[in-house]
Amino acid sequence: MKPAPATFEVKSYGCQMNAYDGERMTELLEARGMVRVDADADLVVLNTCHIREKAAEKVYSEIGRLKRDDGSRPMIAVAGCVAQAEGVEIPRRARTVDIVVGPQAYHRLPALIERARAGDVAIDTDMPAEPKFAALPGRRRQGPSAFLTVQEGCDKFCTYCVVPYTRGAEVSRPWSAIVDEAWALVDAGARELVLLGQNVNAWTGEDGKGRAQGLDGLIRALDLLPALDRIRYTTSHPADMTEGLIRAHNEVGKLMPCLHLPVQSGSDRVLKAMNRSHDTNFYLRLIERVRSARSDIAISGDFIVGFPGESDEDFEATLKIVRAVNYALAYSFKYSPRPGTPAAMEEQVAPELMDERLQGLQALINEQQLAFNRATIGRRTEILLEREGKRPGQRVGKSPWLQSVHVETEAPIGELVEVELVAAGPNSLTGAACRSPDSICAVADLH
Ligand code: SAH
Ligand code: SF4
Ligand code: F3S
Repeated sequence: MKPAPATFEVKSYGCQMNAYDGERMTELLEARGMVRVDADADLVVLNTCHIREKAAEKVYSEIGRLKRDDGSRPMIAVAGCVAQAEGVEIPRRARTVDIVVGPQAYHRLPALIERARAGDVAIDTDMPAEPKFAALPGRRRQGPSAFLTVQEGCDKFCTYCVVPYTRGAEVSRPWSAIVDEAWALVDAGARELVLLGQNVNAWTGEDGKGRAQGLDGLIRALDLLPALDRIRYTTSHPADMTEGLIRAHNEVGKLMPCLHLPVQSGSDRVLKAMNRSHDTNFYLRLIERVRSARSDIAISGDFIVGFPGESDEDFEATLKIVRAVNYALAYSFKYSPRPGTPAAMEEQVAPELMDERLQGLQALINEQQLAFNRATIGRRTEILLEREGKRPGQRVGKSPWLQSVHVETEAPIGELVEVELVAAGPNSLTGAACRSPDSICAVADLH
């Protein structure tokens, strides 16, 4: 029997849902008496992402690097979406791996550690019917902004995407479990909740009185939590954007003016080949409706360039929809063929062409981000302080539109402070703290 690991480190890659799972694994191991450390841990959990090839391959180089200070290797657990997708292949390829645990099975990590101590390679990629969340310990120790997974999995089967295979079918967590967790997070210090799901706006459930509710109903219930200041949600699918949720952006005070609504491409032909279940017209009309409910809303998106068969005209159409929407923020990726997905079988676009298109798209997106940020200069707004800045006395907070704002202030992390936005770059802004609601904001030193 190997000695029981006393210390651990969880390294999360990929999306916010993985970050959330990483926090829950941390709490689980801490509840078992293990101590979280930043280096030289007895157990390292790599909480992996499978979305693109580069992300998935990273895990193997990371495994190769894992050594303790005394030259021995730690117990290694591979968790997350690579664990689910590659399962038993992982210890075949990387013999030092002790545990493989999928995203729906990590509540069983303590038992897997015991099996690994006995010398087994412990593999658990089940998607158990018994809910993982009920088996996890309560929430603890929170920063000002806390993730809360409300929905998992995906039934959309976009032809490029691994998520329906790695995360399983769409499942909504029950209303009461979410409300209880929200209370616990706020009690533990959270001022903002970010509701998470691969298709978060597909969330459905029944409230305490047995009435059917959608995500907007859940948001309206969370709006009533006294010590909570802000609510966000991500990621939404255009097909699940209900009238009620759009209206919530106009009516719910704590719901922040942001919407992450990926369209992926501006070409109807490509959208069809992607199996996206919406066309560009539907998307543009939706954006119009959202903006008429909340005119200052920051729209963000995701794009894939070089999807199999994407022609120059298709790519031009993507630039066109980006111009039409005018994004506050957008992420763009080169298409990466994923094993087992339909699009991986099609003829691929040449890598140089993908590079060229990615550069073109990113230049346009950067321009729009900068323009969005510049247009907010002069606004007085509240920012939620989330961390210390690089310079003494400087703190970094988030504006309602999810912009990072640097400000000189003595207010503690976790406070909402009023600032005037005074300077902007493509990725962050500078704010000047307002000492009282009526005073003129102190002019910030911009250097
Ligand atoms: N459920 C969300 C996010 C899924 S993954 C949604 O549907 O919007 C996040 C982003 O990764 C996707 O929006 C897409 O832009 C990108 N992505 C997914 N699979 C990819 C692939 N095979 N190659 C390149 N980018 C991909
Ligand atoms: Fe992937 Fe499409 Fe599901 Fe998003 S909606 S997770 S891109 S299959
Ligand atoms: Fe990656 Fe899995 Fe999230 S593949 S993006 S970690 S759902």
